[in-house]
Amino acid sequence: MLSEQTKEIVKQTVPVLEQYGNEITKVFYERLFEAHPELLNIFNKSNQKQGKQQTALAQTVLAAAKHIDQLEAIVPNVNQIAHKHRALQVKEEHYPIVGEYLLKAIKEVLGDAATDDIMNAWEEAYGEIASVFIQMEKAMYEQAAWDDFQSFKITNIEDQGTSMKSFEVEPEENIKVPELIAGQYITVRIKPTNDENLALRHYSIFSVKNDGKIRFAVKREGAGEKKGLVSHDLHDSYSVGDTLEISAPAGDFKVESPEDKKLLLLSSGAGVTPMLAMLEDEGYKGRDVHFVHVNESEADVPFKKEIDALNVMNNNVEVTYHLRERDGYLTSDELKSWINEDVEIYLCGGITFMDTIFEELNKLNIDQSGVHFEPFGPKMSITNV
Ligand code: HEM
Repeated sequence: MLSEQTKEIVKQTVPVLEQYGNEITKVFYERLFEAHPELLNIFNKSNQKQGKQQTALAQTVLAAAKHIDQLEAIVPNVNQIAHKHRALQVKEEHYPIVGEYLLKAIKEVLGDAATDDIMNAWEEAYGEIASVFIQMEKAMYEQAAWDDFQSFKITNIEDQGTSMKSFEVEPEENIKVPELIAGQYITVRIKPTNDENLALRHYSIFSVKNDGKIRFAVKREGAGEKKGLVSHDLHDSYSVGDTLEISAPAGDFKVESPEDKKLLLLSSGAGVTPMLAMLEDEGYKGRDVHFVHVNESEADVPFKKEIDALNVMNNNVEVTYHLRERDGYLTSDELKSWINEDVEIYLCGGITFMDTIFEELNKLNIDQSGVHFEPFGPKMSITNV
């Protein structure tokens, strides 16, 4: 239990740390990787290079610290992060290492302003926050369908639009793929060409046929200097028959609406993958589903063949392709025509897409709490916690 004094110090100093958040994060990662280069086999180097997402860890510690006297408020968001940590094989013993370098970074950036009292309070607070994560992750490790990363053989690869490929894999080892849930993802670990470290990425499952295979899709990320380390390799260097290392399915995004509700599945870009799995699953179960995919042009719509087939085969399924080159941006006027009290909204895509849709939904007086969503990026960066 933290003392009242510790909690007070932490809460009072959060705004100062937030102000120096970017600097602290930069120093934190530099020092962390200098002392523990082996952690470069877990962290996403492309994110580091692109300046994307690397603030998530430190920002989340700060966001959690604001709730230090009622840490249960952060549990729904921790759940999503804990799934990712478990999928990446972040272990209990990693927490003190991250804590040590986060505290050292705070001290280095704030200098004398970070008194012993302040540093001690933050050390204690980090310990409390870390234990929320560790407990939750422990339960997830116990429930995971298999330990660590295991070998899977690629049995099929197909182009999906111009920038995506779908992969079908089956276990090489004596592993049984569990019943998959639409909305889940798997995590792939490869040794990229021209890089000395291992690299890990999460990819959503696009089908839940539950025939012992796993099907996921990979979008080619970035170009030139900023090209994605893993996605380009998977697109260009992997073929049917090759082996991939994969950790057990993870994620808490799933259909959880009462059966009499209609679903509006709204996606953009690679967000199509979990939505397609939900469309397939719920469409076959007979639920009314309106699938909307926002894309630049028709030629580039991923999984168009599969989506159109589900549309034709199921009377309860309706499909809208919102093509930006033809229809412009998706606005609240269009959204309004699809939403009523019998419809529940599911949203998936990049952070920018999600922010834009939330703005439009706000105009209709629908806030985040009325939407089921999974950003391809840290959830806390768009939620209010
Ligand atoms: C991702 C928070 C500890 C490794 C993340 C994300 C958050 C976060 C918010 C982004 C999740 C998303 O993309 O949705 C935290 C907090 C921690 C903590 C608050 C401590 C209390 C750790 C530890 C490790 C770790 C101990 C392992 C050394 C990672 C990795 C990612 C990640 C590898 C994926 C993103 C990347 O590679 O850049 N964490 N984390 N985290 N975390 Fe943690």
